[in-house]
Amino acid sequence: FSLKNYNTFGIEAKAKQFVAVHSISELKTILKQHANDTKFILGGGSNMLLTKNIDALVIHIDLKGKKIIKEDTDFVWVESQAGENWHEFVLWTLDNDFGGLENMSLIPGNVGTTPVQNIGAYGTEIKDTFVSCEALKISNQELKTFYLQDCHFGYRESIFKNEVKNQYIITSVVFKLTKQNHKINISYGDIVSELAKNHIINPTLKEVSNAVIAIRKSKLPDPKELGNSGSFFKNPILLKTDFEKIHQQFPEMKYFEISETEVKVPAGWLIEQAGFKGKRFGDAGIHKNQALVLVNYGNATGQEILDISKNIQETIFQKFGIHIEAEVNVI
Ligand code: EPU
Repeated sequence: FSLKNYNTFGIEAKAKQFVAVHSISELKTILKQHANDTKFILGGGSNMLLTKNIDALVIHIDLKGKKIIKEDTDFVWVESQAGENWHEFVLWTLDNDFGGLENMSLIPGNVGTTPVQNIGAYGTEIKDTFVSCEALKISNQELKTFYLQDCHFGYRESIFKNEVKNQYIITSVVFKLTKQNHKINISYGDIVSELAKNHIINPTLKEVSNAVIAIRKSKLPDPKELGNSGSFFKNPILLKTDFEKIHQQFPEMKYFEISETEVKVPAGWLIEQAGFKGKRFGDAGIHKNQALVLVNYGNATGQEILDISKNIQETIFQKFGIHIEAEVNVI
């Protein structure tokens, strides 16, 4: 079974077996039937790089549905099943004038995988509105609720990538959104300048979303047109004491203070300075508008993309003494 249409990188890789599940009971049955087989859980396929065929049963989580589960005067609690497309879900919340997800418009992938790496963009992260998620334990098919404090969210990190990695399948997620007194967050520089272009000073939720969509479209390739997985690397976090030494040598280096002791350096800047931006090696390359994004021009293999990523990592380390880590799951 070809997985080419099930990963946004558009990599040709084959699954030994493939099944799409549409309900929790169906999922439980499949897990029981295949208790002793190797399994590979596939959501939206937007954050992985397939470098080989999958010698396992691939279970594609296609649970659909979204609804309001509770509300009061100020807030609404919305629940989405894991297989809903993230951006369509965001648009649905905005059509209802619910606030909180607008800065994360147009992020590829499905709702069920958003908690895994605490997705974020333009000054907000999933953890800011996340209430809980339900997840099925693969070994015994029991449903468990993970609340915000259980998830150990960090920058592109959660319990699902660490302590309980590969043990659970997230089946639905609940977010608490605002019905009024929306907390518009336009602290991220790009948003302000995008709004200014349209002479907007006090934006609505929808206007913030539209600004984010415009910025993303101008920088990030659409996976439907050019295979990619968004940021391939995480922005490295350095101790200020280490950073200061590097900064003396490279005074033009961009950075953001994230705590009293740490700074984050944009990996996109490092990659661009190392001369990789826009470079193409066969059918694999580095995007011309955003160096953090690796792209597949058509028939690149996962291994070719992986080789480029290693070349980038080594060059950056030699040039700046900074190690950059992949954000994408390399399979
Ligand atoms: N930069 C460069 N050259 C580049 C790209 C970026 O010099 O080719 C510099 C920019 O000039 C800017 C800084 O790097 O000063 C930051 O760039 P940008 O605002 O584009 O954001 P980013 O740090 O590169 C992160 C997320 C994105 C998210 C944006 C906006 C990570 C790994 N990536 O990128 O997330 O959309 O911020 O919030 O944190 C994703 O995770 O797939 C993703 C796209």
